[in-house]
Amino acid sequence: MSDTTAKTPRKILVTSALPYANGPIHLGHMLEYIQTDIWVRFQKQKGEICTYVCADDAHGTAIMLKAEQQNITPEELIEKVKQDHLEDFESFSIDFDNYYSTHSKENKQLSELIYKSCLDRGHIAEREITQAYDPEKELFLADRFIKGSCPRCKTADQYGDNCESCGATYDATELIDPKSTLSGTTPVEKKSTHHFFKLPDFEEMLRQWTRSGSLQESVANKLAEWLDAGLKEWDISRDAPYFGFEIPGLKGKYFYVWLDAPIGYMASFKNLCDQREDLDFSEYWDKDSTTELYHFIGKDIINFHALFWPAMLSCADFRVPTGVKAHGFVTVNGKKMSKSRGTFIKARTYLNHMNPEYLRYYFAAKLSSGTEDLDLNLDDFMSRVNSDLVGKVVNIASRCAGFINKLFNSQTSSECSEPELVNEFIKAGDSIAQHYENLDYSKAIREIMALADQANQYINEQKPWALIKETGRETDVQEVCSVGLNLFRLLMIYLKPVLPVTASHAEQFLNISPALWEDRSYILLGHRINTFQPLISRIEKQHIETMMDESAADVIKESQMAKPAISTSTPVDPLAQEIQFEDFAKVDLRIVKIIKAVDVEGADKLLQLTLDLGDTFGDKRLRQVFAGIKSAYQPEQLEGRHTVMVANLAPRKMRFGVSDGMVLAAGPGNQDIWLLEPDEGALPGMRIK
Ligand code: MSP
Ligand code: ZN
Repeated sequence: MSDTTAKTPRKILVTSALPYANGPIHLGHMLEYIQTDIWVRFQKQKGEICTYVCADDAHGTAIMLKAEQQNITPEELIEKVKQDHLEDFESFSIDFDNYYSTHSKENKQLSELIYKSCLDRGHIAEREITQAYDPEKELFLADRFIKGSCPRCKTADQYGDNCESCGATYDATELIDPKSTLSGTTPVEKKSTHHFFKLPDFEEMLRQWTRSGSLQESVANKLAEWLDAGLKEWDISRDAPYFGFEIPGLKGKYFYVWLDAPIGYMASFKNLCDQREDLDFSEYWDKDSTTELYHFIGKDIINFHALFWPAMLSCADFRVPTGVKAHGFVTVNGKKMSKSRGTFIKARTYLNHMNPEYLRYYFAAKLSSGTEDLDLNLDDFMSRVNSDLVGKVVNIASRCAGFINKLFNSQTSSECSEPELVNEFIKAGDSIAQHYENLDYSKAIREIMALADQANQYINEQKPWALIKETGRETDVQEVCSVGLNLFRLLMIYLKPVLPVTASHAEQFLNISPALWEDRSYILLGHRINTFQPLISRIEKQHIETMMDESAADVIKESQMAKPAISTSTPVDPLAQEIQFEDFAKVDLRIVKIIKAVDVEGADKLLQLTLDLGDTFGDKRLRQVFAGIKSAYQPEQLEGRHTVMVANLAPRKMRFGVSDGMVLAAGPGNQDIWLLEPDEGALPGMRIK
């Protein structure tokens, strides 16, 4: 090691937002845990004392209702979900030092302590408010539990706070014919006393903190806007029944889930301190702490982390965060993840088909320090992983290892024939480290891949496979391949925060102990390696397709398992049912071309059709649809014909596969079924309206 002045390690506590304990982890969540995990692994690899804690966010009405729906207690539900979450995180190599739950004794204690400090210092107000109430369920209703027609455009079935059709925002009380989504009854207004955290008391403190370098520029600007608009008091109490902590001294009143959720960070750390001699709770949380504290979050929860949370901490004499790191949202193929589009991909579904390191790599390759959304484009994902990881990085090792293994008894050369090239790789570690530190992972990856290109170019120029055929050039071959392997080793040191499993396999192959960041400063000379095994395989298109099919099928399974949703409109005879123009407007009818039709074995009536919807549908262009028209058509009669389909029907899982849309046909049955056929000139993708 060249650096002899040992520097004191930083002490850093890192958190990711606590996922709700009422549903599975999906790829949107994974962006956050992968982003955080890469940063933490990088800090640890550099030798810093970095601790990463998280927990399930276990409280609130949604969790209470979900447990009720499944006929289990909330405690049973959150335990089950926590196990699922943990399995997903572990599979993606998210290396928490502790993963806990907000429903814990530590969290109860700390929440009470913080609340009492706020109360004692006069920062809690009390007043009566009027809210919508479901008299049948005996529950106060949050906006998302009320539906009715939009007061502006009259679209039916809109939530209590805004209209998805015209974008209007309003109060739940303004909805036309509002209904509780829980029971279908009309909500009544009811009064109740609530308790408020007096956020405006902390305006000065927050103005200072938000401008102290603790936030990304764009986030600090957003906060300045909120501060200028004036802060409001924050309602921190909820009425029974509620799954959470009862407020001390107030029977039947509970802490709002968002009060005790961030305190869950502290509680998880406290729980860890109680298991570990080397960690001291006060050292990290006292007002004068010199340790660093970072919260990684999504941009949707900035207000909770950059307003309420620092205010509460400072009020209770704890330290405030060193930084809050907000990221954008994951979209899939350019659009918001959506169950009906089949792009709501659960972590588990992904894991059933693909190596988690692919996703870690792709997210890293696209992540910046800002809050822009990140698109998971599945074609780009496949080509990026295949060309960078398989084609560039691993390729270096596989091109060099064979010669060393077979011809040189697995021994690398004792001299380095390219000190300059190797040195350039070592020096590049400085700026790569800076990019990791700044959360500019995409820049780090770009530099690493540029180095990989250089390494491949070096091998291409030296051509060990040609050299070996010339007599007396054996030593040169050994030297070239040893340089290649050393360059590969340096690349793996740099990629290790992103690809921990692949890096560890590479370490086994290179026969070295787990590499720290500064291990880049020496190279392997006269070193014995192990036999090369392929480190990572290519993504096949098929893997992505089956993953997407399973995602679509999941959605159907879920909707079938869920208790029938309570319809807020009166049921009527379907034949007589009149629909509104808005309902009709929702149906996306398109011309399609039948490019393939096959018999479905074991189904009397079904044909499986492959339909082409034309260019504008991107990778939803080709659809597999099952149609009950076998009695009327031979498959080969259909191929090449045009027909009409409902293009935006949610995919349906059938016994033989997923049906992604529906073709329109009419007739009494048997031989008399007629597919609707458009006039000549109609092209796939054309809309019918
Ligand atoms: N329980 C709260 C957080 C409490 S922290 C004291 C919560 N949970 S969540 O499950 O909805 O989200 C957890 C994290 O995942 C949040 O930071 C959220 O922004 C992030 N994401 C959820 N969906 C996401 C995407 N589609 N894309 C990127 N991040 C996403 O909020
Ligand atoms: Zn509207």
